[in-house]
Amino acid sequence: MKISYRSGVAIVIMWAAGSLNSSVQAQTKKQPLQLRANNVKQIVAAMTLEEKSKLVVGMGFKMPGVPPPVKGKKPEAIDIGGFKLPPSDPDAYNIPEKVPGAAGRTHAIPRLGIPSITVSDGPAGLRIEPIRNGDKSKTYYATAFPVATLLASSWDTQLVNKVGVAFGNEVREYGVDILLAPGMNIHRNPLGGRNFEYYSEDPLVAGSMTAAIVNGIQSNGVGTSIKHYAANNQETNRNSINTIVSERAMREIYLKGFGIAVKKSQPWTVMSSYNKLNGTFTSERRDLLTTVLKNEWGLKGFVMTDWFGGKDAVAQMKAGNDLIMPGSPDKSEAIVAAVKNGSLAITQLNANVERILNVIIKSPSFTKYKYSDAPDLAAHAKVAREAAAQGMVLLKNDDHALPFYPAKRIAVFGNTSYDIIAGGTGSGDVNKAYTISLMQGLTNAGFKVQEKLSGSYAAYLADMKLKQPKPKNFFDHPAPIPEMDVNGIVADEAAGADEALITIGRNAGEGADRKLDGDYYLNDAEKGLIRGVADAFHAKGKKVVVVLNIGGVIDVASWRDEVDGILLAWQPGLEAGNAIADVLSGMVNPSGKLATTFPMDYKDVPSAGNFPGTPAAKPETVTYEEGIYVGYRYYDAASIKPAYEFGYGLSYTKFKFSDLKLSAPNFMHSITATVTVKNTGDIAGKEVVQLYLGAPKKDLDKPEQELKAFAKTRLLAAGESQTLSFTIKAADLASFYTSREAWIADAGKYEVRIGSSSRQIEEKASFKLAKDITVEKVVKALVPEVAINELKLK
Ligand code: BGC
Repeated sequence: MKISYRSGVAIVIMWAAGSLNSSVQAQTKKQPLQLRANNVKQIVAAMTLEEKSKLVVGMGFKMPGVPPPVKGKKPEAIDIGGFKLPPSDPDAYNIPEKVPGAAGRTHAIPRLGIPSITVSDGPAGLRIEPIRNGDKSKTYYATAFPVATLLASSWDTQLVNKVGVAFGNEVREYGVDILLAPGMNIHRNPLGGRNFEYYSEDPLVAGSMTAAIVNGIQSNGVGTSIKHYAANNQETNRNSINTIVSERAMREIYLKGFGIAVKKSQPWTVMSSYNKLNGTFTSERRDLLTTVLKNEWGLKGFVMTDWFGGKDAVAQMKAGNDLIMPGSPDKSEAIVAAVKNGSLAITQLNANVERILNVIIKSPSFTKYKYSDAPDLAAHAKVAREAAAQGMVLLKNDDHALPFYPAKRIAVFGNTSYDIIAGGTGSGDVNKAYTISLMQGLTNAGFKVQEKLSGSYAAYLADMKLKQPKPKNFFDHPAPIPEMDVNGIVADEAAGADEALITIGRNAGEGADRKLDGDYYLNDAEKGLIRGVADAFHAKGKKVVVVLNIGGVIDVASWRDEVDGILLAWQPGLEAGNAIADVLSGMVNPSGKLATTFPMDYKDVPSAGNFPGTPAAKPETVTYEEGIYVGYRYYDAASIKPAYEFGYGLSYTKFKFSDLKLSAPNFMHSITATVTVKNTGDIAGKEVVQLYLGAPKKDLDKPEQELKAFAKTRLLAAGESQTLSFTIKAADLASFYTSREAWIADAGKYEVRIGSSSRQIEEKASFKLAKDITVEKVVKALVPEVAINELKLK
C-alpha cells in the first residue's frame, strides 16, 4: 500500500491523538489529585483532618540558642527568659530549609501537591542569612532600604511603590513567598520601640504608604503580611499587655489605615498582633479578624499570628486566624482534638484551610519559580539612595546653613557620623553587604573633611567596640558607645574647618520601648558635644549643622537654638551616607515632611500619662485615654504648640500656593479641590501639598482638622507651577458614631485647608453639606469591657 507523505503524517497524528486520549484517561484514573488553581475546594474535601491541622500550623523554626528536639522524645515547652516557647516541631530541624534565615515555613502535603511556602522578615529589607555554611564565595545579602518612618516622610506614594517593586524582586529572587511586612501601626507615643518600622501618627498616611509598598512588592508575584493587627503600639510586655481602646478610637485611628491598605492593595496576608485588645488576644478575636477584616473590608488572603502570639489555637481558628506561626505540633493536636470533640466546627477549619490554599496557589513555590539568588543589588541600592534622600526632613536652616558649598572644609563630629545606623534592630534589621557612613558619603561627594578629627574618631570607635559586650541573644543590644570627648580639640577644629557637622544617633527595635533619659532626651555627653562645638565654631563665625540619624522622635526643643541647621535623616538604609550627602550638598533639594509630630516636651504627648501602662513596674493594661486625639489631632485641639508640627519640613527653595477652588459650594457625592503651587525660589524643588478638613461639630467632639488627602508635586524648576486636584468623598466627611455603629457625615459647614504643614495653612475654602449622610453602617465590634475615661476636646 502506498501512502502519501501527507496522509502518513495525518495517520501518525491521529494515532498519537488517540493514544494520548486513552493515556490521559488512564492517567486521570490513576493520577492522584494535585492542587491546581481551580480545584482548591476539591483539595480541601480530599484532605484528612490531620493534614488540615498541619496546614493551619506552621512548621516551626530554628530559634537561635534553642536546642533542637531530641529524636524519639516528645518535644517539650522551653522557657526562654520567662517566656514559654511551645515545643519545637522536629520538621523544622529535619526538613532542609529552602531559604536559611527565613522566619518560617508552612507544612507541605506532597500527596496533594501542596508545597511548603516560606515567609521572611521584614519591613526595611529581606532578612535572610547572608552566608551559608561558611561559604563566602556566594553571598545572599539584601538591600537595607530606608526605614518606614523615612519613607512616609517622603509623602510620595509613587516613590514608595518603586521601593516596593525593588524590594519584592529580592523576595522573589531569594526564593521567599511572603514578606512579613510592612508594619503599619500608629505612632501613638514617641517611645514606641518599633516606631521606625511604622509610618506615621496618621492613619491616612500609614494606610496610603502601606498600600503603595504592598502593590509594589506584590507586583513581583510574591506576598506581603501587613502587621501588626491591631492596636500594637508598644513593646513593653508585648506578649500579654491588654490594650483598652474605645470603638471610636479603634475605627478612626487604629483600624483605619489597615482598612485603606486592604481595600487598595489586597495584601496576601495580615499578621495579627501579640497584644490583647479589650481583654482578648487579637489573634483570638473573631470580630477583629472575621467581622471587620474579612467581611467588612473584604480581605481575600489569610491571617497569620505573630510569632508565638496568643494562647489558644482553637480560639484562633474560630476567630479566623487562619495560620498559626511559627507553629508547633501541640497546636495541630489541639485542633484535631477540638474537631473530634465538636468544639471546633469542621466548616471553620475548612474555611481557614481554603484561604491558605488560595494564597499558596499564587506563590512562587507553587509555580516552582526558579529563583536566581542574585537580585540586582546595585540597581536596588540606587532606589534605596533616591528614596532615602526624598524622605529626609530639613527641620532648621538659619541663614542658609545648608546646602554646604563644595569647597567647604567640614569638621565631622559624632560617633554615628562614622558608624551610621542604617535601620533598627530585631526582625526589622537587614543583613546588608555594606552601609555607607556619613564620612564616606561626604568624601564621595567631594567634600574636604578634617582628617585628624576623623582619624581620632576612627581610633576611638575601634577601641570602644572591642570593649563592648557581645549580645546575649537576638533581643539583647549593647549600650551605644558614649560620645567621644572633643573638648581638648574643638578649638583647633573650629580654627581649621569652615563648618561643623554633628550626627546624633539612636537605635531601637522589637522587644523593648525606648527610655526618656538618654534616649528621648539627649544624654550629657551629647549635650556637651553640641554645646562645645557650637560655642567654638560660633566664636569664629562658623556654622554648625546637626544630622539626626534616628528611628523615632527625640527631644529637639532643648538644644535646637544652639545650632544653625538640623537635617532629620532618619535611618536611611545602606546608602545612608551617600543619601545624606546628596541633601547636604544640595544635589537633592529636601522635600520630606514630618509624618509624626516632634513635641516641645515629652509631657505634651497625649499618651504620656498612660504609656506603657499599669502597674508601672510590670504593665498589664494600657488604656488609650487620649481616644482619637493622637498626634496632631491632639496638639491642634488642645492648642499645644509642638517643636515641629505634623507635615512640617523646609526646602532650599520657596513655594507659593494659590487659587484654591472647590468644584461646588454644596456637597453632593463628592467635591474636587484644585490648587496651584508655584516654586518662587531660585532652585528646583518639590512641595508636599496637604489637604486638611475641619468638620462641623454637632453632638460629637471632633479634631480641629484631619488630613484627608496629600500629593507631592513633580520637581518644579524655579518659577514653575503645578495645579493639583483632590477629590473629597462622603467617607472623608464622616466620623464614627459609636452608639449608632455608623460612619456619619454631619450636615453643616466644612472647611478645606490646604497647606505645606498642618500649621502652615496657605489657602482655605468651605462647602456645605445640607443633610446628614450615613456613609456606612457597620456591625458592632471591639466593645471595651470596661468604661474608659476618654479625653473629649471641643
Ligand atoms: C515580630 C514580627 C516578625 C516575627 C517573625 C516577631 O517577633 O513581632 O514582626 O515578623 O517575629 O520574625
